[in-house]
Amino acid sequence: MTNETQSVKEAEQVLDSISPETHSRQRQLLEELSNAFGPTGHEGAVRAIVRREMNSLADFVETDGIGSLIARIGLESDDVPRIMLSAHMDEVGLMVRQITAEGYLTIQPLGGWLDQALINQRWVVMTRSGPIPGLTGIKTPHVMQSDARTQVFKKESMFIDVGAENKEDAEQRLGIRPGDPIAPDSRFQEMAGGELYVGKAWDDRAGVAGLIEVARALRESADPLPATIYLVATVQEEVGLRGAHTSSFHVMPDIGINLESGVAGDYPGITKDEAQEELGKGPTVFLHDSSMLPNLRLRDFFVDTAAELEMPLQFNVLSGYGEDGAEMQKAGSGAPSINIAVPTRYLHSHNGVIHRDDFANAVRLVTEVVRLLTPETVSALTTFD
Ligand code: CO
Repeated sequence: MTNETQSVKEAEQVLDSISPETHSRQRQLLEELSNAFGPTGHEGAVRAIVRREMNSLADFVETDGIGSLIARIGLESDDVPRIMLSAHMDEVGLMVRQITAEGYLTIQPLGGWLDQALINQRWVVMTRSGPIPGLTGIKTPHVMQSDARTQVFKKESMFIDVGAENKEDAEQRLGIRPGDPIAPDSRFQEMAGGELYVGKAWDDRAGVAGLIEVARALRESADPLPATIYLVATVQEEVGLRGAHTSSFHVMPDIGINLESGVAGDYPGITKDEAQEELGKGPTVFLHDSSMLPNLRLRDFFVDTAAELEMPLQFNVLSGYGEDGAEMQKAGSGAPSINIAVPTRYLHSHNGVIHRDDFANAVRLVTEVVRLLTPETVSALTTFD
């Protein structure tokens, strides 16, 4: 068998193992989570979805003091390992800084935005009485000098137009206040015949959906689990892993597994040296990012498990990036941790792209690893010669 027929056969096996029902349920969950409003610090709508699902899947659901949701499967016990899975609920967004006399909003970014990604987009401003549509207006080219036409618009000079007549109108009629959160206005959509999903906030709603699907798979499994599983949907990741900090302290895990959006490097203008992941080639193990080095024995455990499941797996060595795994790794006296990612194109913008098989396989892989984390295995992973 040539390598090519081998890999075609492998791909077919992977497809066979994910049923149409699974794809359909996962698509619905991903769509709902992608569309949900949840800029950093304002994750309530996302938390409500996670709580709704976890209420029927977990044994106990609680929230910590800044809003991360902690769902536990299994008994609270010192006799079995504590496995923490995390994913962050927040998405990059904006906040109203002030309302100008003319009724335009100036903005404070929440999380890392490229200036180019902010301009000339639609947004949702969430006021206490509901959502208000707005847009980041851009000066019309008809009046621009030719050199100005090729320049980047700085976020400092941007504003959001909500159609208000003046400041009083924005405040009184539209109900806008300083501090109101703002999210991209972008709806989920299938692409390329349905295998690819386009939407905002895959960073990290793909991971949040993964948490829920892993919980479902663990719940459906007949075998008793060898550990207590904490599934944690964190807040405020995009401004410095703040929710993961407090929730890791709360759980004090023996092993940390973070679920994230990966960084695909498979489109024009990005190199394989910058990001090695490709859509449709499987979930990704991060081997380096600027916040965390994974435990390599834990990496090998994932690699071996993926091989047994006959599923493709990728690696990524990123020079930047930060993720919640770093906080699990540093909680208490420390825990072997790893970041498992769903390859994503165009992070931190109105439109990202993921492949449904990468998501489904990330769920299968993490579920299987969790089932295999017996006290002996965890002891071996947490013992250093
Ligand atoms: Co993220």
